[in-house]
Amino acid sequence: MKRLIYMSSFSRPISDQEIDVLGKQSNARNNARGITGVLLCLDKTFFQILEGDDHIIDGLFESIKKDPRHEDVVCLINEDRVRDRLFPGRYMHTVNLNVKGDMLFQPVKVLLQQLMQSHRIIGKYTQPAVINKIVQGLDPLELVPQRTMKAILFADIKGFSGISQRYKVDDAIRLINLYLNLATTAITLHGGEVTKYIGDCVMAHFDENQVDQALHAAVYLQEQLAAIRAEASDDAPESQLFAGIGIDYGEVIQGNVGSVIKMDYTLLGNAVNRAQSLERLTRVLPASCIFSEEVKNASKEPWKFLHLGARPIKGKEQSVDLYCLDNPLLHESEDK
Ligand SMILES: Cc1cc2nc3c(=O)[nH]c(=O)nc-3n(C[C@H](O)[C@H](O)[C@H](O)COP(=O)(O)O)c2cc1C
Repeated sequence: MKRLIYMSSFSRPISDQEIDVLGKQSNARNNARGITGVLLCLDKTFFQILEGDDHIIDGLFESIKKDPRHEDVVCLINEDRVRDRLFPGRYMHTVNLNVKGDMLFQPVKVLLQQLMQSHRIIGKYTQPAVINKIVQGLDPLELVPQRTMKAILFADIKGFSGISQRYKVDDAIRLINLYLNLATTAITLHGGEVTKYIGDCVMAHFDENQVDQALHAAVYLQEQLAAIRAEASDDAPESQLFAGIGIDYGEVIQGNVGSVIKMDYTLLGNAVNRAQSLERLTRVLPASCIFSEEVKNASKEPWKFLHLGARPIKGKEQSVDLYCLDNPLLHESEDK
């Protein structure tokens, strides 16, 4: 048996009557499937505890995650091998704290509000790869280190230090945030995961079978940036928004590194160093996305590649063959 605890936010206003109906329907459905638990509502937030057979809870949680009545579903606990139920005989006890004036509920309300606020703040400041684990109910500190094949992508704003000196602080920060949002969307939309932000640079990883997706993410990001530059006036910082992207593919070690004070869930290995070096080469070579022969060989789609010659790079003893895609957008340079 397992116990799963999550919270979520209303995606639209939901009346007390609707919550009542949802509770009654859930109660009846859960009764038929041996699911017990509690559903709390506070402000615009749901907080639910579900307990029952593993596959039944997993299946229900998949349906609940897709339910259009709420969004931002964060799994707080996903506990296996649970022996005793916390709510025996309660198939979905629903408590709408918005309509409960009882003083006894005050501490629960305060605790839930605090929990929601902490999650919002932690979610904003925590490494995306760690948050992805937390929202699945996994404890990132318990993750076992592993060797794995990954496509590693670095995407950096070109010449950001010059831009930051030329424009006001607010404009520079707005530009970085715009860029990081675009890059993150490009990566997650194509199945990758942002490992971390390093100033104005995004480091991301894609699974072994997603090398083509990493290339698609690079093309998509450059398309988005080109559209933003085209719309910006000449004196706006957005007109200077060019990115350099480096991609490599190889074996990396994935795990928690750090000290007792601060941990980083990250990837280490030559592919990481090489992807960063390839990204730096976009500053000197006429291509805004450069990748290694390993990426070319691991991709499966019929891309048109251009050979950019061979160069020595960090993480490789010998010179490596460099490639870019035969796509005019990826040759566009900031000098144009
Ligand atoms: C906050 C929330 C909690 C829910 N809790 C349950 C529940 O405990 N049991 C249940 O059967 N459906 C629950 N639902 C409804 C499910 O999302 C889904 O509509 C229902 O299980 C029917 O899914 P199906 O059409 O895939 O069978 C909940 C929905 C929301 C928004």
